[in-house]
Amino acid sequence: MSRPEFDEYAASYEKLLKDPIRDRFGGKGSRFFHERKRDLIRAYFRQRSANTRSMSYLDLGCGKGDLVSLLRDDFGRVAGCDPSAGMLETIQGVQTRVQTDFGKIPFGAAEFDFVTAVCVYHHVPPEARLALTCEVNRVLKAGGVFAIIEHNPYNPAARLIVSRTPVDADAVLLTQRETSKLMGVAGFSCQVSRYFLYFPESVYRRTGDAVEKWFGKIPLGGQYAVFAIKNSRSL
Ligand SMILES: C[S@@+](CC[C@H](N)C(=O)[O-])C[C@H]1O[C@@H](n2cnc3c(N)ncnc32)[C@H](O)[C@@H]1O
Repeated sequence: MSRPEFDEYAASYEKLLKDPIRDRFGGKGSRFFHERKRDLIRAYFRQRSANTRSMSYLDLGCGKGDLVSLLRDDFGRVAGCDPSAGMLETIQGVQTRVQTDFGKIPFGAAEFDFVTAVCVYHHVPPEARLALTCEVNRVLKAGGVFAIIEHNPYNPAARLIVSRTPVDADAVLLTQRETSKLMGVAGFSCQVSRYFLYFPESVYRRTGDAVEKWFGKIPLGGQYAVFAIKNSRSL
């Protein structure tokens, strides 16, 4: 495998994400963005009355482990993997493994109840996306849940930020429809999809999620999430 490009970014990752629009939207650093994803995931399972403490969770392409760390106490087992050993280096309290092959997930079949891939797929070449999604299918138990969260290419600010962020030099954004289709082909049934990040942190803190949820089908939020279930007789 060639040296993962995120090894080059790992030491100054947060600095490389800095962008005036992003900073105005989410405040200093990335915490707001990670917390929004954590809250979407919590809401998804809460609505299904699922006991996540008995579940195992893998964050594919976990990077510095921000999301998986925020969810560490929500699940019985949490793990992360990434092709970049540099990105994984500082993660604590979470089982991590390096993906020595970009297309293979370094865990066994049916090990997890829940897998996320957050801002990963736009770094995966389009021709490699289906095989990676089939890999997620492999590591999930029957009925397990896969959530993909991605930048929304219909949002002009998201596109502008991606176009000038050094770590996104290779980015090929995918629409929510493309993501749902990919998951369907790989043996998943899409259950919930919504756009989010319509309002900056200062507004969101006052209005809460109810207002954003109301907008959730309008394809203008900065990002979107698709939750899908592994079909019982998939692949
Ligand atoms: C923009 S970062 C996102 C990191 C983390 N998910 C987050 O939200 O903070 C993209 C990550 O995807 C990883 N990545 C790239 N290709 C991948 C692949 N084929 N499988 C898994 N991860 C991959 C990169 O190494 C990098 O850590």
